[in-house]
Amino acid sequence: MLRFYTAGESHGQALLAWVSGLPASLPVEVAYVNHELHRRQLGFGRGGRQKIEKDRAEFFAGVRHGKTIGAPIALRIENRDWANWEKALPVEGGEATDERRLTAPRPGHADLAGGLKFNLHDARYILERSSARETAARVAAGALGKLLLREFGIELASHVTAVGPVRMERAASWEEIQAVCAKLDSPLRCVDPATEERMKAEVDQSLRKGDTVGGVFEVVARNVPVGLGSHAQWDEKLDGRLAQAVMSIQAVKGVEIGAGVAGAASYGSAVQDEIRYDPGARRFRRPTNRAGGLEGGITNGEDVVVRGHLKPISTLRTPLGTADVNSKEAVKAAYERSDICVVPAAGVVAEAMVALVLADAFLQKFGGDSLGETRRNFEGYGRQLDEY
Ligand SMILES: Cc1cc2nc3c(=O)[nH]c(=O)nc-3n(C[C@H](O)[C@H](O)[C@H](O)COP(=O)(O)O)c2cc1C
Repeated sequence: MLRFYTAGESHGQALLAWVSGLPASLPVEVAYVNHELHRRQLGFGRGGRQKIEKDRAEFFAGVRHGKTIGAPIALRIENRDWANWEKALPVEGGEATDERRLTAPRPGHADLAGGLKFNLHDARYILERSSARETAARVAAGALGKLLLREFGIELASHVTAVGPVRMERAASWEEIQAVCAKLDSPLRCVDPATEERMKAEVDQSLRKGDTVGGVFEVVARNVPVGLGSHAQWDEKLDGRLAQAVMSIQAVKGVEIGAGVAGAASYGSAVQDEIRYDPGARRFRRPTNRAGGLEGGITNGEDVVVRGHLKPISTLRTPLGTADVNSKEAVKAAYERSDICVVPAAGVVAEAMVALVLADAFLQKFGGDSLGETRRNFEGYGRQLDEY
């Protein structure tokens, strides 16, 4: 079983990730983990924080001589901004300083619900953890999941299909998605340059108005073997597990598998994917993939396609009305330095979350305490499929 947790606050010393359950002897390239962290920081419409941080993972446990040793992995990503917050958020003693106190909770954030729940009158303590800065730790953990999947030919990539009302009007090919992922200077990770220009204009317009904008990203996982997940129990269904993982990303308000949303307004004959047998490959295939690679909660051998729908960022330069948690008076919500559009970054985080869920389902199916043992089990299953 692959498990992971994160710890750390937005302006604390560091983000931490703990990953347990990877087989021994999996090669771990720290440069690859750092590359993934860098990808999360990119995108047109990000705020000033990305200029301060240069995210890098430092491994403290579980990796020796460039490989996993079957022990839990612990890593840390330093927050450079901590230097500016050390006095305001000390670990020991003292009172919170007034200028960092946040008593005007921001609509759309965990500020008020969290403050009420934990009985804290300073939303600072809530937002420090609810902030999407936490997703840096998820991306580092997800990179390890990707490294496992890569050993078995499974690749993941993401792209942006909508920013506000501007949408891609056509499907993107795998090659296009891979190419735009590799292009680190792509402003919004959209495969269509003309659409991307219109998306940029949408971000610019939001910035000018002191507003923010949401959108849609799509994650595609290629070469996923048939048979991950199960129809047998509700919590084993892989579509449900993927939805939970992607929905848990800050600001994601809708998750779609394949053509799920459009399918709801269509007819069954136009939504299900027909089945063919390919004798050369000795595999069953589908000429279409509206199901997004999942039927009955089980992967069917086609690309796994997961889309995340993001609401516009909650922190606004032209703030909405709120109520002060102490005086209870009507005031304007607090403003924190903030992003305008995070759809491409959220796509990278979703790649990590999808990778972790797929890697866990992969290890549930093939098991193994060492990479060699996992590989033998995987190859044995391949022979079973050949003979089916
Ligand atoms: C990569 C990424 C960066 C984000 N940056 C910001 C930000 O700068 N300002 C902001 O208000 N919200 C930002 N968010 C969204 C908030 O963290 C999120 O809306 C908030 O924690 C409330 O959670 P919810 O929207 O999931 O209900 C970001 C989300 C992601 C995925």
